[in-house]
Amino acid sequence: MYDLIEKKKEGRILTEEEIRWMIDGYVRGEIPDYQMSAMMMAICFQGLNEKETLDLTLSMRDSGDCLDLSEIPGKKADKHSTGGVGDKTSLVLAPVIASLGIPMAKMSGRGLGHTGGTIDKLECFPGFTTGLNEEKFMENIKNIGIAIAGQTANLAPADKKLYALRDVTATVNQMSLIAGSIMSKKLAAGSDIIVLDVKTGSGAFMKRLEDAKKLAETMVSIGTMAGKKTAAVITDMDQPLGNAVGNSIEVIEAIEALSGKGPADFMQVVSALGSKILMLAERAADEAEAEDMICRCIKSGAAKKKFAEFVEAQGGDASYVWDTDQFKKAEYKIEVLSEKEGFIQKIDAASIGRACMALGGGRERKDSAIDLSVGIYLCKKRGDFVKKKEPLAVIYASDRERGEEEKERVRNAYTIGAVCPDESGTIKAVIDGIGMNNANSFYI
Ligand code: URA
Repeated sequence: MYDLIEKKKEGRILTEEEIRWMIDGYVRGEIPDYQMSAMMMAICFQGLNEKETLDLTLSMRDSGDCLDLSEIPGKKADKHSTGGVGDKTSLVLAPVIASLGIPMAKMSGRGLGHTGGTIDKLECFPGFTTGLNEEKFMENIKNIGIAIAGQTANLAPADKKLYALRDVTATVNQMSLIAGSIMSKKLAAGSDIIVLDVKTGSGAFMKRLEDAKKLAETMVSIGTMAGKKTAAVITDMDQPLGNAVGNSIEVIEAIEALSGKGPADFMQVVSALGSKILMLAERAADEAEAEDMICRCIKSGAAKKKFAEFVEAQGGDASYVWDTDQFKKAEYKIEVLSEKEGFIQKIDAASIGRACMALGGGRERKDSAIDLSVGIYLCKKRGDFVKKKEPLAVIYASDRERGEEEKERVRNAYTIGAVCPDESGTIKAVIDGIGMNNANSFYI
């Protein structure tokens, strides 16, 4: 390991055998954290080329179990987001796609830091469980076309160990390491189609569009080389997605979206990702046809019905889908009023996410308990006009004092100016795998 660290420190290329040896040894506990930390830091400075990134990803994928979904007929799809604020896309996308006949087999995570997680949102339904064993996971996909489970202990265990190490050694933010971490889990989860939502902007890992594009290209290239139909959509995180931020109010917004009343920016993301899946599954010839299919399955109520079936199949109380007033509400509703008049230029998503976390809606550590009922509803979004003393947002708090304390942070997240900003759009770019097998670029 000493020689490998030295080699990478000098900027030389690691071979496939060396990378596999290192990952296997680390998972078995034969390579200590301090040597792996040095390697991660060397990678941060020297980068990995495309071949090394692929070798790292495949070694991490092979470090544990890989799901075999081949007994389920047809092409199975999976979706992953790099993490955002107000991102409840999976709750709508999965039933939409499943109601159109494409099975969705998804592993999801909990929220960490200022970003939310699908598992926490689903747990707003009393009784809902994501702790499915492999048999139940497969059975639900076969019977109703959707299963969403928490990551099992033995799926890409190398990533679990490496991610925890990177988190405390300032080595998270490296393109190849992020790509390897995400794609090793997606490849092990066994779907044929992988669609990635790569966020860019102030609330995202990748603040700059160029970096988001590079990360998306890297992941699409890995997926394609590993034999999966892979595409990425780069979406805006310069403001939270939709109007609701916080677990139960996000679930309510998702159910409204399934009833045809979703916020425009949110529906653009659902539509862009859904269209990619439908095209990769060869169910739609182009975007126009795919978008039409998505609109129709929402309008007919088929997607909402599928969502209720899915909630019930995972032990949740599906009556909440039809009567959202049953979701637990935070006791206090505190309005955040604008101190000036003008157009909303941007809303710092990370600040809104942190405010939600401070209200008790997010966790600082993996094992912290969270309050599913708190959140922030954004009454105004980018491009809207606000008058002085008009509400910018409403804070839902279980503790009045904490809610009052967060008013300032929420107000300061808003930038207000005299002119209406140019509509920069929610979908920034689409990257697909066509022709990527020959890609020959280096990713640092
Ligand atoms: N999400 C992951 O799963 N891994 C990373 O490295 C970054 C985001």
